[in-house]
Amino acid sequence: MTIDPRGAAAAVQLFRRTFGAQPTCVASAPGRVNLIGEHTDYNGGEVLPIAIAARTHVAARANGTRLVRCVSASLPEAGEFPLDDPRPSGKWWDYAAGLADQMVRHGAAVTGADLAVWSDVPAGAGLASSASLEIAAGLALAKIAGIDVGRRDLALCARHAEEEYVGVAVGIMDQFASALAVTGHALRIWCDTGETAQIPFGESVLIFDTGVGRTLRSGAFNARRAEVESALALLRRHHPSLPTLAGATPEEVAAAELPAPLDRRARHVVTETRRVARVVAALERGEPVPGAELLASHESLRRDYECSSPELDWFVERAMRAPGVRGARLTGAGWGGCAIAVGDAAALESAGPEIAAEYRVGFHRTPGWRVTPASEGATVSSLTIPQ
Ligand code: GLA
Repeated sequence: MTIDPRGAAAAVQLFRRTFGAQPTCVASAPGRVNLIGEHTDYNGGEVLPIAIAARTHVAARANGTRLVRCVSASLPEAGEFPLDDPRPSGKWWDYAAGLADQMVRHGAAVTGADLAVWSDVPAGAGLASSASLEIAAGLALAKIAGIDVGRRDLALCARHAEEEYVGVAVGIMDQFASALAVTGHALRIWCDTGETAQIPFGESVLIFDTGVGRTLRSGAFNARRAEVESALALLRRHHPSLPTLAGATPEEVAAAELPAPLDRRARHVVTETRRVARVVAALERGEPVPGAELLASHESLRRDYECSSPELDWFVERAMRAPGVRGARLTGAGWGGCAIAVGDAAALESAGPEIAAEYRVGFHRTPGWRVTPASEGATVSSLTIPQ
């Protein structure tokens, strides 16, 4: 099992400094980017994320109480929550608290613990920093309590935690990707059944963080969820047995003549889930990601789902002018956050700083960028040797 020594060591050091003891385990979980399949997960469609190199590390030790004490290297304030009857506090440790609460509700004998968190997944950028914290904290809590928790169950607990405890009605993509991803593979998830498949993916991806944070995102996200639920209810008048919105065909959506903007929201969902299948087919033939599918995805998100932003649109247009770039699109929820580009690895490495410099001048914001391969999913290790 490989754990990034830098992040793990930093979490261990923070733990020792804060709690004055040696942690007994370190868990680690990655952020993710989605190659394609956006806003399809909560519509029962398909998604195709990869784990990125940036990760959240949690060093942990049982503390013999019914409290979990949390400290983070990068997030303000340290805090604690009770395992019995925890209440959301609006603080960053709600992700760990919500997860622990779900584990307890599922009958897991979670014990009190001290947790020290170190992460290089930027918060609020749409790279699933919260899912990586949930999964790493959950694995650490399970390890120190001696609970054998399945990755899939953990991901489902994390998803419920986010929905019920933190209040954002997310799909299952982020938690599944963080918990189940495998190096050198994209994770195909059929979000209606929770079935997954590892799809070989040897390319790297340029991630461009527009630096436009999440302020808008949760409200807009919940509004889109309400719209697609209405679209599904209307479609079911014609097709009562339709299991999910993504289960409709583009022809059925067109024939239903849904009122605007529900017609466009539904069109995005049914076309996007089909793009995932086409990208998977190309990868399975040993071809690179078809750039045209990424561009079509972005256009659909921009025009039909209306979750792009001027910054994301600018990036896509600019990236496509860089030699060797084959495709680009927004990734994650949108309304700011991140976009990706695919192409030759060398082209991505040189495009990153050039695009960032132009963006800084044009938008008066400092973007982030990195080139990442498909990285390892969540890991957990016992620490037996003092470091
Ligand atoms: C956010 C959610 C995911 C997914 C994407 C959009 O990242 O957490 O579950 O819905 O938006 O594809």
